[in-house]
Amino acid sequence: MPIRVLCTGPKGVEYMKEFKLAVLGGGSSYAPELIDGIAKRYLNGEFHAREIVMVDVPEGRERMETVASFTRRMLAKQGVPCEIKTTLDRREAFDGASFVISQIRVGGMLARQRDEHIPLKHGLIGQETTGAGGFANALRTIPVSLEFAREMKDACPEAWLLNFSNPAGLVTEALTRYADIKTFGLCNVPIGIKMGIAKALGVEPSRVSTDVSGLNHLSFVTGIWVDGKDVTGAIFDSPLFEHYLKVEKYGPEMGRFLRRLRLIPASYLFYHWCAERALKEQLADISGEKGSRADEVMRIEKDLFEIYAKPENDSLPEILKKRGGAYYSDVALSCISAIVNNKPAVEALNVVNRGAVPGIKADSVVEVSCMVDGRGPHPLAQKPLPQEVLGLVQQVKAYENLAVQAAVTGDIETAFFALLNHPLLPGADTVRLVLRDILEANKDHLPQFAGKSL
Ligand code: G6P
Repeated sequence: MPIRVLCTGPKGVEYMKEFKLAVLGGGSSYAPELIDGIAKRYLNGEFHAREIVMVDVPEGRERMETVASFTRRMLAKQGVPCEIKTTLDRREAFDGASFVISQIRVGGMLARQRDEHIPLKHGLIGQETTGAGGFANALRTIPVSLEFAREMKDACPEAWLLNFSNPAGLVTEALTRYADIKTFGLCNVPIGIKMGIAKALGVEPSRVSTDVSGLNHLSFVTGIWVDGKDVTGAIFDSPLFEHYLKVEKYGPEMGRFLRRLRLIPASYLFYHWCAERALKEQLADISGEKGSRADEVMRIEKDLFEIYAKPENDSLPEILKKRGGAYYSDVALSCISAIVNNKPAVEALNVVNRGAVPGIKADSVVEVSCMVDGRGPHPLAQKPLPQEVLGLVQQVKAYENLAVQAAVTGDIETAFFALLNHPLLPGADTVRLVLRDILEANKDHLPQFAGKSL
């Protein structure tokens, strides 16, 4: 179904666009935030996602049905006429869709738990998007994402794929290189920083604009604008910057260096710049009751799904905030709105660089401020990142390109070189051991490496 003009909008809206949306990983605990955002966009007359099809794997069916029933109640309460369907059949979900949102987790939360625990066993940071854990996640997620993209090419060749699936930068790199569909990647980190700035300045978020440059989970805000006025300097001297350093755990000692560079980094820079502290914290967490982030998220999701399942509940629960990923739906829906209405919006997205981020190859995916309109995102040219951080960004990009190649080809030497190039990994001996463990623990999800060993 193409995007169509719907002649009756709510509350005196004369017309608005309607379309079908498919959500891969519909059973995600995040999905209610997305549906809530869709309801708001309907009520303010921006667009009508008339049909929303959630699709999941058989193991996720129960969760998906729970989320679907809960979100139907949310919509009914607000009088929003979007229809929520569920299916295990991707073809059915893709047929006629104008947008597909991917928020999958291959292997589920248990695979994420392994991604976090295995590196720690080797004395390395365990994280689902960076380091050895992020690498394992990429090996599992990239082939599946490419398969879904091929199915989209067949069923809905004109549709946009919005990729949230982690590691979002690497998955998007693979999609832009190996799939012949319209796609871009998204993350809630840049919008989270922008919202934080707006809150601290006491202004509406729509008045704030940020210049974002780098890679997913390694991007930097290099400029802050309010009503078109450059306020970057003011931010670094404000108490809110101290607050940010505390919340993101960089601490006052790192403030001095960030102030000098005039950069607000994505929180994930913590793993690089404060690696010793990050590792110490993670080791303490897994040896205690807290466990890794996956262990924590599993506990939160248990509570969340109990709430979703209760027939009397019909609005977003407070504890969803603990789940992380806040504002993820805002960035996706702002892009969809800009595309369907051909009304430009600026968002930080993962797209092919085309020279926007100096120092990174033109055909590599970067996370950068983009102008989005009816033709999709267009990266906006950024000023060069200072040498103090550019080297790290370039090294991580080299790792990412090799990791994507390894995930696609199943070439074990490429996998080795990818990890050897990652700044969070030490020398070849450890890389070999970690890689062996990753391949063994994930073998059910890595057919491309079947029968191969180091
Ligand atoms: C972030 C990251 C995402 C991540 C999300 C939720 O903001 O950018 O990559 O998926 O948080 O993280 P969580 O640890 O709560 O699953």
